[in-house]
Amino acid sequence: MKRLNRIFVILLLVFNVQLQAALPLYKNPKAPLESRVKDLVGRMTLEEKVLQLVQKTAGRNTNPNNFGEKVGSLPAGIGSIIFYEPKPEIRNLLQKRAMEETRLGIPMLFAQDVIHGFRTIYPISLGQACSWNTNLVEQAAAVAARESKLSGLDWTFSPMVDVARDPRWGRVAEGYGEEPYANAVFGVATINGYQGKSLLDKYSIAACLKHYVGYGASESGQDYRYTEISNQSLWNVYLPSFEAGIKAGAATVMSAFNDISGVPTSGNYYTLTEILKKRWKHDGFVVSDWGAVEQLVYQGYAKDSVDATLKALLAGVEIDMCDDHYKNHLAKLVTEKKIPMSVVDDAVSRVLRLKYRLGLFDNPYATVVPKEERYLRPQDVEVASQLAEETMVLLKNKDNILPIKNKERLKIAVMGPVAKDQSALLGSWSMAGKPEDVETLFDGIKKEFNKSDVKYSLGVNFDMTNGPQINETQELAKWADVVVLCMGEHKHWSGENASYSNIEMHPVQEEFIKTIKNSGKRIVLVLSSGRPLGLQRVEPLVDAIVAIWQPGIAGGTPLAGILSGRINPSGKLSITFPLSTGQIPVYKGMRRSARYLQGMNGNFSDIGSKPLYEFGHGLSYTTYNYSKPEVSKSKFRKGDKITVSVDVSNTGNMDGKEAVLWFVSDPVSSITRPPFELRHFEKKLIKKGEAVKYSFEIDPIKDLSFRDADGKVLLEKGDYFIHVGNHKVKLELID
Ligand code: NOJ
Repeated sequence: MKRLNRIFVILLLVFNVQLQAALPLYKNPKAPLESRVKDLVGRMTLEEKVLQLVQKTAGRNTNPNNFGEKVGSLPAGIGSIIFYEPKPEIRNLLQKRAMEETRLGIPMLFAQDVIHGFRTIYPISLGQACSWNTNLVEQAAAVAARESKLSGLDWTFSPMVDVARDPRWGRVAEGYGEEPYANAVFGVATINGYQGKSLLDKYSIAACLKHYVGYGASESGQDYRYTEISNQSLWNVYLPSFEAGIKAGAATVMSAFNDISGVPTSGNYYTLTEILKKRWKHDGFVVSDWGAVEQLVYQGYAKDSVDATLKALLAGVEIDMCDDHYKNHLAKLVTEKKIPMSVVDDAVSRVLRLKYRLGLFDNPYATVVPKEERYLRPQDVEVASQLAEETMVLLKNKDNILPIKNKERLKIAVMGPVAKDQSALLGSWSMAGKPEDVETLFDGIKKEFNKSDVKYSLGVNFDMTNGPQINETQELAKWADVVVLCMGEHKHWSGENASYSNIEMHPVQEEFIKTIKNSGKRIVLVLSSGRPLGLQRVEPLVDAIVAIWQPGIAGGTPLAGILSGRINPSGKLSITFPLSTGQIPVYKGMRRSARYLQGMNGNFSDIGSKPLYEFGHGLSYTTYNYSKPEVSKSKFRKGDKITVSVDVSNTGNMDGKEAVLWFVSDPVSSITRPPFELRHFEKKLIKKGEAVKYSFEIDPIKDLSFRDADGKVLLEKGDYFIHVGNHKVKLELID
């Protein structure tokens, strides 16, 4: 019997080997990836190649900025689709066409904007960065990847790592704030969460670094505008987060809308090919942003759609998102020898490479599991809740009004448009997110303060479309011991194409706060927004402010925990709150003003230059003491490693998580640098009465250097300072 079995196994193996030998190379799972790509490209017609570089949409498009397109019949051989309302069964139907109805059976790639969660929506990226907890951010991205994969997606257009220093730009919500280093580190954590250890993992999806590059510098914060970026700033401010993402293995990149000092990013050979592909050796592909090829014409860089196709592809944009120009013009341009076939082959190879890396040729279909197993698993909602908790920033706490003592029976009035609005808490780009999944702030507070009397009144709507219920709320305020006002922005007020010339709190909300102030009661402002707001007039009216951003589905309980003191707030700002709109731009990484005595950041005669809450600000219910930092060596050579450590003690009465931010300064350099550059951070739990050591292991070439206008790393002799808490230590590069 045993012998028979053995013979059977041998026969099977032989049969399998023969079967594989009979397969074309590109279909042979055992063949090396690059040979499969080469073999397949060699078999493709020009038309088949062009289709791989075309992207269309499928499903209902609910994004108002991506106007127009509704695709009835997709060509079976199309390279990729933006899959609105993704469902695994529909993916499998579409994929079956690609696999079985086309000559070569090349699988399609299914993409969507999964930005801060798929169905389990977690806080917006700007908020995530305030957590300074990369571990949680990575876990949340892994949850998003699993839910996406089970819904039929392979690829997300995320993370956005655009350094953003102008809160008038609605898209500050989508990135990790104003510091290059924070964007780099959180971008990498997010990529790791999406892509896992390998793109072949069961629940991995491909990431897309966007928007390459400099989009966050849109002139005056208006979306889709040009940017004025010197090469010096390009290398030191806007490129580092992309370089970090590429090093971490981001599978794809999206070119942006902006023009950089005269050259649009979607036609920019220097950034797309010279830097990304040649210097950083990125072997994935670049997809244009929506319609960005067409926009080369509006931008005055291409004379028509044919010219735009030529310029975009030759610069290094491989996939044309949704404007059909590659589809309509590319083949002709190749036939006329205006675009060499080698360029098309390279572009197609990049697209196919990702499909192989994702295992799509060998495993093209999505697994279909029941909906309850697809998303919103309790353990995933728990991640959303933990992340929401750590993103919330206590901005103000006059006379320690918070936490609200939860022991005695209190009368708490909860008011304002955000208190019961589930949709507002989801934030922009919450495509598959559903308002009904969201725990309201009111429900969280009511549950937390179950020993107290908690009453609600809307008070005022976001922009007064419902009219203020002034009388009712004044009565309620009179009744209450403490008033919790949940105000701020609706989800449509930030995100793409949501730039505002004025970021002060909406005047009707501001007026409303004044009426409540007249009651003389303690006021806690819970501020939900996709950007910092100008709070110059509002701040003096309230006793405490908690910025909760747009926390996603699980913000109610964490907020309530912070209000009651069950949770010690640990968020710190990843972006500066200006005193008012007129102070913009104001951010931590500004270079020095020439008249130092007027203030390092310059001076406005009316409002000065000090922001209301600066980058890194965030209060706690405990107190921390930072010891004098210790340095392993203060004179160093380029190749040395240096450690700077600080002991942080929790000197208050409550355990807390403290994020320690380390800044570097290079006071004299051949090209001037900002006096504070974030280069390291870490967050740890410190029990009350205990101390914990934090260290910054410095690799001078990486951590103390800067770049010249062509990206060359410069590390100049002389003094450097490391800033931590209120301390600074001097280091000297001697050689
Ligand atoms: C336009 C946005 O700028 C980009 O971020 C997004 O990924 C695409 N549309 C696709 O929806």
